[in-house]
Amino acid sequence: MTARLLPFSDDPIRPSAPATVTIRLDGAPLDGVAGQSIAGVILASGPLAFRRTSVSGRPRGVFCGIGVCFDCLVEVNGDRDVRACQRRAADGDVVVTQHDPLPGSTA
Ligand code: FES
Repeated sequence: MTARLLPFSDDPIRPSAPATVTIRLDGAPLDGVAGQSIAGVILASGPLAFRRTSVSGRPRGVFCGIGVCFDCLVEVNGDRDVRACQRRAADGDVVVTQHDPLPGSTA
C-alpha cells in the first residue's frame, strides 16, 4: 500500500483493522481494503491511468468517480467494460486494462 492509503489507525470512522483484499491488475497483485472500489485499489497502489482512448490512445483513469464518464473501463473476471469506480473490489478479482483502437486509428 502507498502513502495515498491512510493507515487505519488515522481513520476516525474505522478504528479497527480492516479486512484486506488482493486483486490482480494485468497480472500484478494490488492490495486494498474491503469496501474499496476497484478504481480505489488501483489508485491507492499508484497507477493513475489504466485505459487508453480508442482514437488517439491517450491515457485515462478515474475522471468523475461516480459512474458517469466511463473513463475507467476495465475487464473484470472476463467481463468487459466494467466501470472500475462502480465495482467493489473482491478478493481474487482479475482486472485487465482495456484498449480498443478504432479501425484505421493510429492508437
Ligand atoms: S470514473 Fe467516471 S465512470 Fe468511472
